[in-house]
Amino acid sequence: MGNVLPEVRVRVPAKVNLSLAVGPADGSGYHQLATVFQALSLYDDIQASSTEPGTYRLSFRGEGAAFLPTDDTNLAIRAAKLLARRFDVRHSGVQLMIRKRIPVAGGMAGGSADAAGVLVACNELWGLGASQEELLELGAELGADVPFLLVGGTALGTERGDVVMPVLARGEYFWTLALSHSGLSTPSVFNEFDTLEAAPLDPVVSEDLTTALAQGDVPAVGAALQNDLTQAAISLQPILSNILQIGLDAGALGGLISGSGPTCAFLSDSATRAEAIAEELSIFSGVRAVRCAHGPVAGAHVVS
Ligand code: C5P
Repeated sequence: MGNVLPEVRVRVPAKVNLSLAVGPADGSGYHQLATVFQALSLYDDIQASSTEPGTYRLSFRGEGAAFLPTDDTNLAIRAAKLLARRFDVRHSGVQLMIRKRIPVAGGMAGGSADAAGVLVACNELWGLGASQEELLELGAELGADVPFLLVGGTALGTERGDVVMPVLARGEYFWTLALSHSGLSTPSVFNEFDTLEAAPLDPVVSEDLTTALAQGDVPAVGAALQNDLTQAAISLQPILSNILQIGLDAGALGGLISGSGPTCAFLSDSATRAEAIAEELSIFSGVRAVRCAHGPVAGAHVVS
């Protein structure tokens, strides 16, 4: 175990699922997935400061900060405590301040991103020297999306989505994100999926998507975007179908609900087009806010 640092800053991206194929649930209620994640330039920033041993404190600033729990139910605190327990950390605690930009309960893995960022931050702060493999293993214990947020880029996720393998993705992808007035709970969307649909036994990512990514053919990626949770999310928030239509009518190369929603994500091949789509979406009263971002970007990383 190395020296404790006074402070570490970590930046962690949001994710969008370019494809989300959902299979049957296992005994614990988790579903078998085949998904392609992409990390986007919409970031939460984490400041971790060392404090008295045994102390774990958390505060939030920014988007939705007032609504987030800061006790042991928060995945960020659980990440710090899990790392401390696993590495028997007795020489320091941590004070965490997270500046949120990733929408809360938005299908962009905001909570999982914070957990991934905290693992990276505390590993550095406490001088633990844990490897990426060790962090990925701890990440998977915290939540299915956490390993991808450690890796970033564009990657295939299998099993619960927590077994992550980079995929070849050329090109740059510009996204317009339409944020909803209210969030959706991931378990409720998966429950709705179980009620509405018969899941295939073996979910797969389409070859059209992997080929388009390998060629950096952004229009073909747009045409291959796919999310099995679409009907479930629309059934819980019917306005999402209007939002999807508005983005497509505005000239997006493709659009879909991000993960379990309700954020809708629209793909463009330029920042200019993404901004024009954002303008069209922002005048619809069913959209709370719009954001533009690009991908792929790096996973959770220390910033100086
Ligand atoms: O792993 P995480 O805590 O992010 O998952 C939240 C919820 O989403 C799970 O409790 C489960 O209801 C649902 N889920 C699922 N199958 C997955 C991932 C998540 O059913 N592969």
